Amino acid sequence: MNNCRVCSDPIKPFMSFGPMPIANGFLKEEEFATEYFFEMAVAFCEHCGSFQLVEQPNAKRMFHENYAFFSSLSKYMQAHFKAYADNVIERVFKGRKDPFVVELGSNDGIMLRHFKDAGYRHLGIEPSENVADVARSQGIETLSEFFNLDLAERLVAKHGHADAVICANVMCHIPDINGVAAGMAKLLKSDGVLMFEDPYLGDMINKTSYDQIYDEHVFIFSATSVSWAFGQHGFELIDVLPQITHGGSMRYVLAKKGSHAVSSNVAALLEKERAQGLHQAKTYVQFKRNCEASREALVGLLDKLHNEGKRVVGYGATSKSTTVLNYCRIRPEHIEFISDTTPIKQGKFSPGVHIPVKPYADFMKNPPDYSLLFAWNHAAEIFEKEQAFKAGGGKWITFVPKVEIIK
Ligand code: TYD
Ligand code: ZN
Repeated sequence: MNNCRVCSDPIKPFMSFGPMPIANGFLKEEEFATEYFFEMAVAFCEHCGSFQLVEQPNAKRMFHENYAFFSSLSKYMQAHFKAYADNVIERVFKGRKDPFVVELGSNDGIMLRHFKDAGYRHLGIEPSENVADVARSQGIETLSEFFNLDLAERLVAKHGHADAVICANVMCHIPDINGVAAGMAKLLKSDGVLMFEDPYLGDMINKTSYDQIYDEHVFIFSATSVSWAFGQHGFELIDVLPQITHGGSMRYVLAKKGSHAVSSNVAALLEKERAQGLHQAKTYVQFKRNCEASREALVGLLDKLHNEGKRVVGYGATSKSTTVLNYCRIRPEHIEFISDTTPIKQGKFSPGVHIPVKPYADFMKNPPDYSLLFAWNHAAEIFEKEQAFKAGGGKWITFVPKVEIIK
């Protein structure tokens, strides 16, 4: 029996994606024999509404000195994080004296740089040393530790309370959500604001984008579950701002209860989630069926193209692709290689199914007949960049919201 990480009620998995490797665990051939796998099952807690992984690998297996994820590689994401920083400055910093912002999971400093450039007091907390080093080398204050109540107390003693605590694509990674929420409550001023954004459950259910589920994402949040989880620690949801990033995300704005006015967006979204059935177990039973149908369609298409002798290459060795490749048991005969612009992934193999990851130059040199869009969340940016591929007869395959060859 497992218990909900938020409310401790007993939970039962409603589906398993099977044995899964570490999503960002790109590896060399000599590491194949010792590759780590865990059973990737998911559960929905009917009591507090949280969607979660039943088992999550140890954090040290996922976030280490060779962590392969650098935020600043995408131009679109750079613009997104500039807008996020502006949103914090506008919403929280206005009228405050010498405000202080703390970002959890600040990666290579893609968001904090804007606070630094504007001369604001800032601190990034980033456990992965290699990405934190990139931030530090650019003068962005960064500490390589995991955030918890103990660290919050030390930060308050050293820097004072924070006006804003922010994160992006980080909160959903943290299994001890109660420890972190308690730490945030400690770290923030009484009128401080907490803002975080993560892939949104409502979008995942609507689009069958099950590839949002992988080892790092222990939670897929909704306004309902965030409100419950943080309510336990004296916070209330004061606004919600939908984002198009990561295929559909939500930015949650929280503050200590009664300290700020609550936007009508909050009640509207809670109502929308009820209408969508996000609080009901049967919604997740249907989601499971949709995942199975998606798998069948994708494997069917790849088998057909393989039999026709077509060349298929994956575009973007995303963390998400690890779930798709392993759940669908896609093999190197289906996909010749995966093209990716991240140097640390190139020359390695994809986790679990061991498809070679090659530099983007290889894609350019010898464009395939079909390109399977693993980085579907960056479709707009990619289609704009890859007009020559299409003009030369290349076709895109997507699997979100449904498996299809894009016309
Ligand atoms: P991301 O979208 O952040 O997905 P995830 O969170 O699932 O890892 O990762 C994008 C990956 O795709 C990253 O490895 C870089 C790669 N990529 C390309 O190779 N080319 C591109 O044009 C873009 C936008 C991304
Ligand atoms: Zn619960």
